[in-house]
Amino acid sequence: MIFPCPNITLIAPLTACTTVTSQSLLRKLAQRTSERLLFEKEEETPTPALIASARGSVLELGPGSGNQLSRYSKSQITEIYGVEPNTMLHPLLQANVKKHGLSDIYRIVPCGIEDFDRLRTYGLMEGSVDTVVCHQVLCGVPRPKEMVKACYRFLKPGGVMIVKEHVKAVGDPVTVMIQRMYQTIWPFFLGGCNLTRSTGDYILQAGEWSNIDQVLTSREDPLLVIPPFAGRFTKAG
Ligand SMILES: C[S@@+](CC[C@H](N)C(=O)[O-])C[C@H]1O[C@@H](n2cnc3c(N)ncnc32)[C@H](O)[C@@H]1O
Repeated sequence: MIFPCPNITLIAPLTACTTVTSQSLLRKLAQRTSERLLFEKEEETPTPALIASARGSVLELGPGSGNQLSRYSKSQITEIYGVEPNTMLHPLLQANVKKHGLSDIYRIVPCGIEDFDRLRTYGLMEGSVDTVVCHQVLCGVPRPKEMVKACYRFLKPGGVMIVKEHVKAVGDPVTVMIQRMYQTIWPFFLGGCNLTRSTGDYILQAGEWSNIDQVLTSREDPLLVIPPFAGRFTKAG
């Protein structure tokens, strides 16, 4: 039996049109992503102003080697607890603490945020801090939801959680699909970094917030494959 051959004159322009459209969309997506990844200067994001707004006693979640230390407004802070379980980073973190003149107020806490017993020995208890700083941490930890709840727990009523993370893409279906494709290899090259977490939802649902000053949302630009989520969240009570 011979099957009829599809009419090539009808299909060709359609295929060409689809290819051009998807090529230009893909180019646009690649451009936005590389701009975000390779050319974005942290100085030009909300990060400096967010970190500078930290007040009182501060719990910095996963400070790493101390990238954010230069941004604290020292005169507004009484103490900073850098909760950093990776002890290999401590010498560099300590050096940066000294470099930025924070030695008298910065304490490195060598455990994870979920280790409540250990944290208690440093005076970190439920409702004990004015500010929690959470900057680019939740994409690479095993149980982000629990960690956000722990952060909420440490805040005093009226305390503020300062957040800047990247989150799952929502909205544009092509962007969502490309993010999922990236996700298949991304964690292997970027130390377990996860692109498809609903971190914004975990924060919004961690407890009752009396004020939400969200400066960046994942809907900011539907073509962003690595959309940001940033803001200041005030604990109710
Ligand atoms: C990508 S680094 C972020 C560095 C820094 N916050 C910044 O803005 O550049 C993530 C850090 O979170 C730390 N971390 C991992 N698990 C953690 C946990 N359970 N509690 C606190 N910090 C954790 C890691 O050791 C790492 O230093």
